Amino acid sequence: MASEIRDINLAESGHRKIEWVKRNCDLLRTLEEEFSVSKPFAGKKICLSVHLEAKTAYLCKVLKAGGAEMFVTGSNPLSTQDDVAAALVDDGLEVHAWYNSTPEEYESHIRNTLKNGPHIIIDDGGDLVSMVHNEMPDLIPNIIGGCEETTTGIIRLEAMNKAGALRFPMVRVNNADCKHLFDNRYGTGQSVWDGINRTTNLIVAGKIVVVAGYGWCGKGTAMRAKGLGARVIVTEIDPIKAIEAVMDGFDVMPMNDAAKLGDFFVTVTGCEKVIDEEDFAVMKDGAILCNAGHFDCEIDMATLRKIAVEAREMRNNIMGYKLPTGQWIHVLGEGRLVNLACGDGHPAEIMDMSFAIQALSAKYLVEHGSELTEKLIDVPLEVDQDVARRKLKFLGKEIDVLTPEQEKYLNSYNL
Ligand SMILES: NC(=O)c1ccc[n+]([C@@H]2O[C@H](COP(=O)([O-])OP(=O)(O)OC[C@H]3O[C@@H](n4cnc5c(N)ncnc54)[C@H](O)[C@@H]3O)[C@@H](O)[C@H]2O)c1
Repeated sequence: MASEIRDINLAESGHRKIEWVKRNCDLLRTLEEEFSVSKPFAGKKICLSVHLEAKTAYLCKVLKAGGAEMFVTGSNPLSTQDDVAAALVDDGLEVHAWYNSTPEEYESHIRNTLKNGPHIIIDDGGDLVSMVHNEMPDLIPNIIGGCEETTTGIIRLEAMNKAGALRFPMVRVNNADCKHLFDNRYGTGQSVWDGINRTTNLIVAGKIVVVAGYGWCGKGTAMRAKGLGARVIVTEIDPIKAIEAVMDGFDVMPMNDAAKLGDFFVTVTGCEKVIDEEDFAVMKDGAILCNAGHFDCEIDMATLRKIAVEAREMRNNIMGYKLPTGQWIHVLGEGRLVNLACGDGHPAEIMDMSFAIQALSAKYLVEHGSELTEKLIDVPLEVDQDVARRKLKFLGKEIDVLTPEQEKYLNSYNL
């Protein structure tokens, strides 16, 4: 099937972005070299749905260098970059995605990607896996397995698996240490503030930032807000995470109390309606709201749009909503992932690690898929360790090695 993109003439700008990523992704560059010789994906079709910007595009090129036939779509209507999509098509990959697709177009792009009959699926948030199971089950016998990138996708997979509905093995890429410890924490931490800063052009120092959710992403977001000089409030539902936030020096309170105080709000929970009508009602005039969780349900946008007496685009990617009580609430990127809808996503060096895990997990599936008995599997420890060792080498750092005596000590119980 022909690709569906906005404009092939944008390819040149996309190629430049991908080239920049390549320069800064040491692990993926090495894998590209290795794969172009060993061709681990020869004869295999890979369907991929990941936020379609330059780092993802480079992952696609690495997999293609390994012999895969690539069919690519985005993972959110506002995170696809049309020039990057054009560059991939220019390089001979099949792409179905454009920026700002309608819900119908977005769904049709996923369907048209899958129609190619994948052997391997690479998913970010579970849209491919969900469509295969719900609408295209005839594709299942051909599928060796897949990899899931993010926390929210894994929650969906775990629910499917519990219900006995998951029909091929999926690797929980997010659960690898080399993924969530760095991508979710340092990647989200930096890129969320990049998105907010470049979109609002406002000062963060001296302001009050409310971070909803103190998981891996929330920790990074709060840490970087503090670094920018903000006073940070955390909201949580998990008492242990709440204590962690207190010990890390942040204030903790329910959202409705925090709503009265915050200048900036970032939701990053994976849950829905974390900020709702009761919270909007007590917010300060000019409050800025954004979301970094996978789906755009964390801020109750439907209600905000319904109760607003006026809505106005304040600046590119900033919608203002005037409440009946007179305050203006400002929402960035329509409540979609702010770091991707209003920025370029995580730094390249971070995605280098996450996507090295993806590429090596896909290779693992090709090599071991038929032996797998479980439907949900973790990234093999040797893959995680391999990525960490390679990364450390590129960082120019060495570490100690256990002596035989130390190894014996650590493995004995009669000390
Ligand atoms: N923006 C990005 O680039 C990016 C990157 C990685 C993950 N994600 C997404 O971000 C979300 C969070 O991921 P994570 O890895 O931090 O997950 P996590 O499970 O480590 O953390 C989520 C936290 O939110 C808390 N929480 C849940 N419901 C809540 C509520 N109603 N109010 C307050 N806190 C609540 C949980 O207790 C938990 O501590 C997911 O949707 C994930 O897919 C986004």
